[in-house]
Amino acid sequence: MTEPTTTQTGTPVSSDAHSLTNGPDGVTALHDRYLVEKLAQFNRERIPERIVHAKGGGAFGTFTVTDDVSRFTKAAVFQPGAVTDTLQRFSSVAGEQGSPDTWRDVRGFSMKFYTTEGNYDIVGNNTPVFFIRDGMKFPDFIHSQKRLPGSGLRDADMQWDFWSLSPESAHQVTYLMGDRGLPRSWREMPGYGSHTYQWINAEGERFWVKYHFTSNQGNVEMEGAEAELIAGADADYYRRDLYEAIEAGNFPSWDLYVQVMPYEEAKTYRFNPFDLTKVWPHADYPRIKVGTHTLNRNPENFFAQIEQAAFSPANTVPGIDISPDKMLMARVFSYPDAQRYRVGTNYNELPVNAPISKVSSYTQDGQGRHGFSAPSAPVYAPNSFGGPVADAEASGAGTWESDGELVRAAATLHAEDDDFGQAGTLYREVYDAEAKKRFLQTITGGVGGVTRADIRERAIQYWTNVDAELGAALRANLESTGEQAGTTANEAAEPVGVV
Ligand code: HEM
Repeated sequence: MTEPTTTQTGTPVSSDAHSLTNGPDGVTALHDRYLVEKLAQFNRERIPERIVHAKGGGAFGTFTVTDDVSRFTKAAVFQPGAVTDTLQRFSSVAGEQGSPDTWRDVRGFSMKFYTTEGNYDIVGNNTPVFFIRDGMKFPDFIHSQKRLPGSGLRDADMQWDFWSLSPESAHQVTYLMGDRGLPRSWREMPGYGSHTYQWINAEGERFWVKYHFTSNQGNVEMEGAEAELIAGADADYYRRDLYEAIEAGNFPSWDLYVQVMPYEEAKTYRFNPFDLTKVWPHADYPRIKVGTHTLNRNPENFFAQIEQAAFSPANTVPGIDISPDKMLMARVFSYPDAQRYRVGTNYNELPVNAPISKVSSYTQDGQGRHGFSAPSAPVYAPNSFGGPVADAEASGAGTWESDGELVRAAATLHAEDDDFGQAGTLYREVYDAEAKKRFLQTITGGVGGVTRADIRERAIQYWTNVDAELGAALRANLESTGEQAGTTANEAAEPVGVV
């Protein structure tokens, strides 16, 4: 016999189809509490979408350590032979939940390792750098890439205004306008932790590290015109690709490498190693293999396991810590704060977010709480009743020296720090001739969409600072189309530059 439908409190209901009415054609009874429950529950199905990275998809997997990096970290998850269950979510940054996957954008690359020592999250992107270097500018940056408050439209003027007034964005915008901005799929792109993190070994020695995930499916890009067609035909192109690959047993995998900088070298390195707009050239710090991550299990419920998943750079484990990167320090506040609002105060109790290790904490109560300690357990520390006691040694937390007056100032410049140097190197030395052509076409479309003459001129200067020939070619391209800022001809420009 089929199971009866019940109310949320388990009582069988009498109809799946008919409201309780006064005769077949009469008014509906307010005391039809099953109808009321069904409609009220439905109205509450949506939670706020993520303020950024709203559109995404993900899967579960396994991380297997293949090489020995125990000389750099004591974290259990990276010890030789360790195998750890994981969750991964990929995303686009600026689009809303229903936005097309193939709009040009940076792609999010978030991982949760359910380790024996607590959850460890790496919340990175498919690029090794970022647009800004101080969390203070993050809301402004995102506002400039999202929608105008009046019309609700995206706007090239505000995108290029922000970028050209924020020269530290040049390196990341060079990635974004290049092939990295349009991967063929989430499977065929790399991932980066982007920030510098700290690793601590069993002897207490400290190292600075950067994470690199290289795709075993290769790095494959998509042409702009194809991406636009797919955006219209199949908005969920990446989500579908990942789901179908895993369903077919075609499990995507990435190898994890780290660049490791001895602690003291940070002080004199040619680039500020805590500046998120910079990479460490591999010639300076070669990549060292750690292990392989394989995605092998689709979610059974997208909402419960992907939408309510809460990744945070604040989730570290013994032997791994953050660094004095100002962006990272802002992020460790921002994510749990967003998740308390977006998912609910006790979001870490949901199965997808709960660690496999024991939680022994003095937090209690709050919306949605369902886990609790024995009634005899003390609810405060310190106590005389055998409650948990903090253990600095077990925490395995990192440290760094910090001194000086409280100031609001840019970080110290190292010998080769400047805003355009690494962007120019990326354009000149990494992009081949074909990639350069695609790049020029993309920025021509992007800057071509700018209507204000002063912003357009500043954007041309921005690319001139990256590479003088590139700037000249951009200017020539814009002039040859006969476009002038402020004319309707701009409407014909290729609508790129959406982040
Ligand atoms: C200070 C700078 C930043 C702030 C304040 C910030 C803030 C946020 C917030 C509030 C969310 C939504 C979290 C949620 O609701 O679950 C988010 C998501 C995300 N951010 Fe950031 N972010 C910053 C920089 C970055 C950087 C530098 C990266 C990559 C290197 C990054 C990658 C991501 C990713 C991948 C997600 C999606 C996480 C997921 O899959 O659920 N963000 N960010």
